[in-house]
Amino acid sequence: MGLQGTLSVPGDKSISHRTLLLSALAPGTSRIQGLLESDDVRATAQCLRHMGVEVNLAAPGGEVTVSSSGNLCEPSTVLDAQNSGTTMRLMSGILAAQPFFSVLTGDDALRTRPMGRVIQPIRQMGGRIYGRQEDRFAPLAILPAANPLSGIEYALPHPSAQVKSAILLAGLFAQTTTTVVESVPSRDHTERMLSALGVQIATHDSASDGVRQIVLAPGQKTALHGNDWQVPGDFSSAAFFIVAGLVIPNSQLLIRSVNLNPTRIGLMEALQSVGGVIRVENLQTLGGEPVGDIYVESSDLKGDLTLEARHIPAMIDEIPILMVAGAFLQGCLTVTGAEELRKKESDRLAAMAEVFHLLGLAIEMYPDGFQLQGDPERRLGGTTAPAAAGLRFFAHHDHRIAMALAVLNWAMCGRISWEIDGREWVSVSFPGFFETLESLDTQGVS
Ligand code: S3P
Repeated sequence: MGLQGTLSVPGDKSISHRTLLLSALAPGTSRIQGLLESDDVRATAQCLRHMGVEVNLAAPGGEVTVSSSGNLCEPSTVLDAQNSGTTMRLMSGILAAQPFFSVLTGDDALRTRPMGRVIQPIRQMGGRIYGRQEDRFAPLAILPAANPLSGIEYALPHPSAQVKSAILLAGLFAQTTTTVVESVPSRDHTERMLSALGVQIATHDSASDGVRQIVLAPGQKTALHGNDWQVPGDFSSAAFFIVAGLVIPNSQLLIRSVNLNPTRIGLMEALQSVGGVIRVENLQTLGGEPVGDIYVESSDLKGDLTLEARHIPAMIDEIPILMVAGAFLQGCLTVTGAEELRKKESDRLAAMAEVFHLLGLAIEMYPDGFQLQGDPERRLGGTTAPAAAGLRFFAHHDHRIAMALAVLNWAMCGRISWEIDGREWVSVSFPGFFETLESLDTQGVS
């Protein structure tokens, strides 16, 4: 029933997309260790191949190699980002600066996700980018700009690393300075990676109001060059095992080599504040990112946890699994300012609310969050544990919902006993998730 052992999680999804994109824009060959080979990242690789970039996902030595002239060619087919918002949004910044026509589409879910947020700033830079339904949705059509792009100063209406990165990638080709202003910092992998390549990019944090300004000098595309990248483990994938280790009794896990970028680890800090025993070991810097091992053990989570808009960017992808931890908290988990969750691969607030309602757990939903009354006794063997085996739940074609359901199921039933409709969607970010979870089952250890 408890989970014991040492595990690794796959490479960071955000960094993996970015290594491929930056390598495609750089003349020469780049070598990538630890790239996440999941459906989302393969979608980026495939789009780049259609533009003349050689991406070899199975180069000798477990490396991925990307060879490029540094210039993309006009794709002779529609580029398909599949389920990947990162592919579509970051790629649209790059495509807007190219001297050719391109069309970007995605699967049913991605074609309903908001794209106006990248179209608007890219247009202000002089890009000719158009979307369905008055520039709101993909497919996107991108025409060569009449003139080279110009830089803009753009205050993000809501924190988004994808929008910020789309603007910065377009800004690499711009003739004037590009400035992005964030009211709450979002993940900063693009900035760190551009800096590592010698691009002139600076970040200024205001001590008084927490506002962050990212300033990219003009014409920096020429600074890009082939590089060796190392992709650390994805904190967002580790998050499922952090929560599993905390809420499943008799668990002790060591998760090796995880990216601990401060813009990503909000879940860990929140759970530590309510008594979660989570320790970072072997902290080091790898490829410009802080990386360490995470030790976690079963813990009594106690106290009210209240999270607001300013906390959300650092845990934007972790809210579904945070809700699983919240179900067993001796206290109340309140989240507001999280309306972005409704625009992810699924409406993640609605998807999780459906699960909690079906299980009879006490949750009140808001347009931008929820309040959840936790109860540690709901775990397997607890006094209020529901008779929860053999149920059927829907992952809503969403990898993170499927994984959150699996951890919730294990905590309530001591194994995977529910039918999780759509469990195969874990391949978007964590192929082998279920196998990894089951390999840590102490009942399987002799
Ligand atoms: C990502 C940014 C976030 C996150 C997504 C990956 C990125 O999206 O949810 O999984 O790699 O830049 P938003 O920019 O929409 O917040």
